[in-house]
Amino acid sequence: MDERVVRINEAAEYIKGRLGGKTSLAGIVLGSGLGKLADGIEDPVVIPYKEIPHFPVSTAVGHKGNFIAGTLGGKFVVAMQGRFHFYEGYSMELVTLPVRVMKVLGIKYLFVSNAAGGVNFAFKVGDLMIIRDHINLLPNPLIGKNMDDFGPRFPDMTRPYDPGLIGRMEEIARREKIQLKKGVYLAGTGPSYETPAEYSFFRLIGADAVGMSTVPEVIAARHSGIPVFGMSVITNEAHGDFPEDYVNDGEEVIKAADAAADRMSLLFTRLISTLD
Ligand code: HPA
Repeated sequence: MDERVVRINEAAEYIKGRLGGKTSLAGIVLGSGLGKLADGIEDPVVIPYKEIPHFPVSTAVGHKGNFIAGTLGGKFVVAMQGRFHFYEGYSMELVTLPVRVMKVLGIKYLFVSNAAGGVNFAFKVGDLMIIRDHINLLPNPLIGKNMDDFGPRFPDMTRPYDPGLIGRMEEIARREKIQLKKGVYLAGTGPSYETPAEYSFFRLIGADAVGMSTVPEVIAARHSGIPVFGMSVITNEAHGDFPEDYVNDGEEVIKAADAAADRMSLLFTRLISTLD
């Protein structure tokens, strides 16, 4: 048997044991500074990554390392409070391991979130952006022998983010009077932030926001046919025309994400409550 699948199944079996066999409707990946959403999960079962077989420990700032299962919006969900990034030195197999495990746990939807720089001139710090598409400048996580148990060799990426979920979220935001932007998320490797020329280049090729995550998980989920909803919190204005004394600061990024986390949590909870 494929060793990667053995590892996925061992991690999933361990978590299943801790959840008393309950199946999860949705998986949620919480990005930098957005771990707070997990506080809204009722009757949580908190499983530190270090207890899960084959799980690496997240080293990124603003990321806790817990797998949390429980009820959100009346539905049973599993959430990753902290993700694994390529820039931490993890292989793409490890970066996507949690999504593979969630698939085995039975999730029918994947929600992803991140902190991102807004390269679109109209984007301001604190804006929330529905991800409608992405540009991947990270290695594709499906490179290597195809995991046939999970999906096809050449998966379709025509609708990486589910149009139905996007429509429902827009409706919820209108009702809640929360302004949303919508755009294209570009994933680079990091960990250095972009130069002004790179931000301008990304805008030119069609990106609205830039970050260092999310896309590997989305590709792994779409490989397995799981519908995805994604949202970015704009944590810095990455327009490429910086004042002379400007510096990009990771701590400021976390603070901006934290300030937006309540709004994002409310929207995710509302959308999850409509699913079945
Ligand atoms: N670039 C890359 N990743 C990021 C940024 C950025 O400007 N802001 C938050 N994550």
